[in-house]
Parts: sequence; C-alpha cells; structure tokens
Amino acid sequence: MVGAGLVELRPPQLFDGSAWSRIRLRDRAHLENWEPTGPGRWDERNASMSWPSQWWALRSLARHGQSLPFVITVNGEFAGQITVGNIVRGALCSAWIGYWVASHVVRGGVATAAVALLVDHCFTGAGLHRLEATVRPENGPSLRVLGKLGFHQEGLFRRYLDVAGDWRDHLCFALTVEDVPTGLVNRLIGQGRARIP
Ligand code: ACO
Repeated sequence: MVGAGLVELRPPQLFDGSAWSRIRLRDRAHLENWEPTGPGRWDERNASMSWPSQWWALRSLARHGQSLPFVITVNGEFAGQITVGNIVRGALCSAWIGYWVASHVVRGGVATAAVALLVDHCFTGAGLHRLEATVRPENGPSLRVLGKLGFHQEGLFRRYLDVAGDWRDHLCFALTVEDVPTGLVNRLIGQGRARIP
C-alpha cells in the first residue's frame, strides 16, 4: 500500500483492452516522449482493437520464457504496465525492465512499488540475477523511481533507442541480487514509503 492506494501486479488479460486504450489515448502527452517509437499513428496503435494482438505477443514471449509482462493495478483498477524483457538465462541470468503509470495516479508511489514487487519476484521466484533499466536523462520521474530503489547508474548508452521519432541517449541503471539481500519491498516498508495493508 502506497499513497495512491493498493498496488498489485497481475498478468495482462484480454479484457484489459478497453481500460488500456482509454488511458493510453488520454495520456499520449504523458507517455509518448519516453516510449519506443512504434509503427503507425498513436491513436491507431493504442486503439482497443490493437490490444488483442499486443496481448497475444506479450503472452507468446512469456510462454517462451523471454518476458514477464504485468499489468499494474491500483485498488484493483488498471493503472499501467511493467514488463521484464529480453530474459537471458545461462551465465547471464539478466533482463531489462520497463514501466508506465497512468497520469491520474502518478506521484503516489505506484511505479516505485511496482518495480519493487517486480524486482523481488525476479530475484526470488524467477531466478534472475541482474536487472537493467535504461532511462532518458530528461526523464526526472523515472530517474527518481530508480534512485529511490537503489539502482546503480552504470553508464550512458549513446543514441540507444528510437523514442518519439529520434535516436535518444539513455542512462543505464542496474541492480543485482546481492544489492537487495532482504528484498526491495522490505526496504520500502523500512523506509516508510510503503506498508502492508
Ligand atoms: N523531476 C524529478 N522528480 C519528479 C518529477 C520531475 N519532473 N516529477 C515527479 N517526480 C518525482 C516524484 O515526486 C516522486 O518522487 P518522491 O516519491 O520522492 O516524491 C517520483 O518522481 C515518482 O515516484 P512514483 O510516484 O513511484 O512514480 P509514478 O507512479 O509517478 O510513476 C513514471 C513514474 C513511471 C515515470 C510515470 O511518470 C510515467 O509513467 N511516465 C511516463 C512513462 C515513463 O517515463 N516510463 C518510464 C520509462 S524508463 C523505464 O521504463 C526504465
């Protein structure tokens, strides 16, 4: 539980399409500068009829062990997404994470709680050892989320990702199992940033 309410993660479902689309069409200005450039117009690729194919693609990657896609809910309502991608096993046991939160619940601790829940799941249940997050230097809120959670800044990836129509520099952050021996949720609770309901 954080300021915005009860934060939970669950797998995306086919029925999420209308809530997903309603929020993403409304929140274009909030999201577009921070997300990879996609094919077609924003209103086309975020229309509710685009959800089934996206949902299917997420499910397929998850079934092949390459991704862990989650919906973020606040008080049971759809409020964003958080995804573990490019999962590599073997001697790496590494992946990246990405997230977005609906504008009507930002600044309430939702992303911080969602990342903490996800990191704990990855480092315990999913057997990963390292998680990376790449963020544009201009993205103050996302930098703050990673900072609150103790992610280490490791470098700058020059012209790394096509975002909002151009190749953008990204700062690279990472966390390993050894950085959080007692878990991130426990750390947030200890800092008074979250509580068990
Ligand atoms: N500059 C610096 N800090 C800021 C700013 C700003 N302009 N605006 C807000 N903040 C702070 C908040 O005060 C808060 O810190 P605090 O708890 O110390 O007060 C922090 O940033 C945000 O923490 P949360 O409330 O946990 O995060 P929130 O639920 O608001 O979600 C998020 C943050 C995910 C970045 C949201 O704004 C969003 O979806 N943005 C658009 C998409 C996006 O940027 N996604 C992340 C891409 S990078 C990646 O996926 C690794």
